[in-house]
Amino acid sequence: KKVLVINGPNLNLLGVREKSVYGSETLLDIAKAVNDESLKLGLDTDFIQSNIEGEIIEKLHSARGVYDVVIINAAAYTHYSIAIRDAIKAIEIPAIEIHLSNIHSREEFRHTSVIAPVCVGQICGFGKMSYILALHAAANLQT
Ligand code: DQA
Repeated sequence: KKVLVINGPNLNLLGVREKSVYGSETLLDIAKAVNDESLKLGLDTDFIQSNIEGEIIEKLHSARGVYDVVIINAAAYTHYSIAIRDAIKAIEIPAIEIHLSNIHSREEFRHTSVIAPVCVGQICGFGKMSYILALHAAANLQT
C-alpha cells in the first residue's frame, strides 16, 4: 500500500516551536519513526511538509491514482481551510486526520475541524504516536 503523509504549516518548526505543547522532537525525528514503522507494516510511505495551502492542495490532487491512503496533519488549516477539505473530498482517497496535540482540550477555535467530515477518522493527542497509530489504521483500512 502506498501512503502519503502530509504535514501543514509551521510543522517544519517542531522541536523549536511551543515545546510544552508539541514536544522536543523535530519533524525529521517523526519522519524517521514513520519510515521505520512503515517498513515494519509493509507500507510504502512518502512524507512531505508545506507551509502553503495551494501546495498542499496540489499534492492532494497529484496523489490521485498514486496513493492508497493519505494521512494529513493540516495544522492550522484544519480549522478553516474549506479548500483543503474540498480537495480531500474530490480525490476520493481515504484520508486519516492527525494531530500531535489534543485539539479538543485546547482553545475553542481548535475544537472545530472542517476536514474531519471528509476523513475516515481522526487521531489526536498522542504526539509522534498519532502518526504511528495512523500508519496502523492505514495498514488495516479496506481500500
Ligand atoms: C496541530 C494542531 C493545530 O491546532 C495547530 O494549528 C498546529 C498543530 C497538532 O498537530 O497538534 O499547527 O495540527
